Amino acid sequence: MKVIGIVGSPRKDGNTEILTAHALEAIAEEGLETELISLAGLDIKPCNACRACAEEERCSIEDDLFPIYLKMRKADGIILASPVYYGSATALIKALMERAGHLSHLGREVFKGKVGGPLVVARRAGQNFTVAQLTFWFQILDMVVPGSTYWNIAFGRGKGEVTNDEEGMKTAWHFGKNMALVVKKLAG
Ligand SMILES: Cc1cc2nc3c(=O)[nH]c(=O)nc-3n(C[C@H](O)[C@H](O)[C@H](O)COP(=O)(O)O)c2cc1C
Repeated sequence: MKVIGIVGSPRKDGNTEILTAHALEAIAEEGLETELISLAGLDIKPCNACRACAEEERCSIEDDLFPIYLKMRKADGIILASPVYYGSATALIKALMERAGHLSHLGREVFKGKVGGPLVVARRAGQNFTVAQLTFWFQILDMVVPGSTYWNIAFGRGKGEVTNDEEGMKTAWHFGKNMALVVKKLAG
């Protein structure tokens, strides 16, 4: 059983990565395999609506998306994590959501029954909207979204500041524990 955490910040070693690593640590503690995938520095273009993926499970755009899609395909659980950029998820994670969404969705339901959930960091505002954006993606793809003791949000601006948000870190940890629990239960 494996859970992957995809971090949609273009900033390496930043707050979103720290929060995601924390949730994955909670999951690993329950005996599941984990992997953090940072999108920082990768080339992931938005969907161009060519609909090649409606015919077969491939993407016409040749960049860094498809190998990550294959990891998502294999995983039992997928965390999508993003900082808030102008009140929204980043363009980077949105591009992945568009293309992995269509690749998995059009006539094949690849992610059906997998466990998923969001993690979001911001300096000040926009977390709830961004949590909703990410959660809508899991829900339209027929995935199961566990809860936590709060919405999966945290505060921080400079690299590492998120660790000062004790409640945010605890929420992510508890979310990780719930994610592991649900993955195990669904595996029977
Ligand atoms: C282009 C840009 C837009 C941002 N927009 C917001 C925003 O709308 N609300 C907010 O609270 N913080 C905003 N921030 C701050 C980031 O969300 C914050 O610094 C976060 O910790 C970055 O996460 P990271 O370290 O994982 O990259 C923005 C930062 C950048 C670079």
